[in-house]
Amino acid sequence: MSKVHWKGSALLAPVPPALVSCGTMDAPNILTVAWTGIACTHPAMTYISVRPNRHSFGILQRTEEFVINLPTSAMAKTVDLCGMKTGARMDKAKHCHLTLLPGDTVAAPVIAECPVSLECHVVQQLPLGSHTMFLAEITGVQVEERFVDSKGKLNLQQAGLLAYAHGEYFAIGRKCGEFGFSVRKKGKH
Ligand SMILES: Cc1cc2nc3c(=O)[nH]c(=O)nc-3n(C[C@H](O)[C@H](O)[C@H](O)COP(=O)(O)O)c2cc1C
Repeated sequence: MSKVHWKGSALLAPVPPALVSCGTMDAPNILTVAWTGIACTHPAMTYISVRPNRHSFGILQRTEEFVINLPTSAMAKTVDLCGMKTGARMDKAKHCHLTLLPGDTVAAPVIAECPVSLECHVVQQLPLGSHTMFLAEITGVQVEERFVDSKGKLNLQQAGLLAYAHGEYFAIGRKCGEFGFSVRKKGKH
């Protein structure tokens, strides 16, 4: 297999194009963030990397709280718009007809239309260059009830989550395995 060799660049894909909500129920803002991920399981830690020129940046620095909301593919246009327009000049929640719900552990609002929302408390701000990383503990999670089965297990197969890869949005498709299935003994569930 022949490869093309490039200099180092931010080419990890797919990533979740998260709708990050910050501020308060009375003064909310939403921005799209693709530079996010899980950093630790126990304690549950995540991060978002945000450019200092974003309107949300000052809010994040001041409140040290945010919510990562995972959007569906039906929300792709909303996700793009929240990544194109600034909250300095527009109420994006209102413009996109998003329903805001109170967080359990943060003052920042949760976006009702997103199947999964992670409530986060910033523990460290790391200026890295173009972006500052907000490392945060996930202090609460809200998930859409219809994706939780009778045993309390979260099934995201039907949630239709959105993915982002190198400038393009994709609807997550067919399930092709699950954690540990490569080593599971036949007939044992
Ligand atoms: C798909 C997508 C992903 C983005 N990811 C990031 C990101 O990881 N970090 C960031 O600072 N901006 C990112 N942006 C840009 C911000 O969302 C955009 O500048 C937004 O308008 C900022 O809103 P605000 O000024 O209301 O804070 C992304 C935009 C899009 C469309």
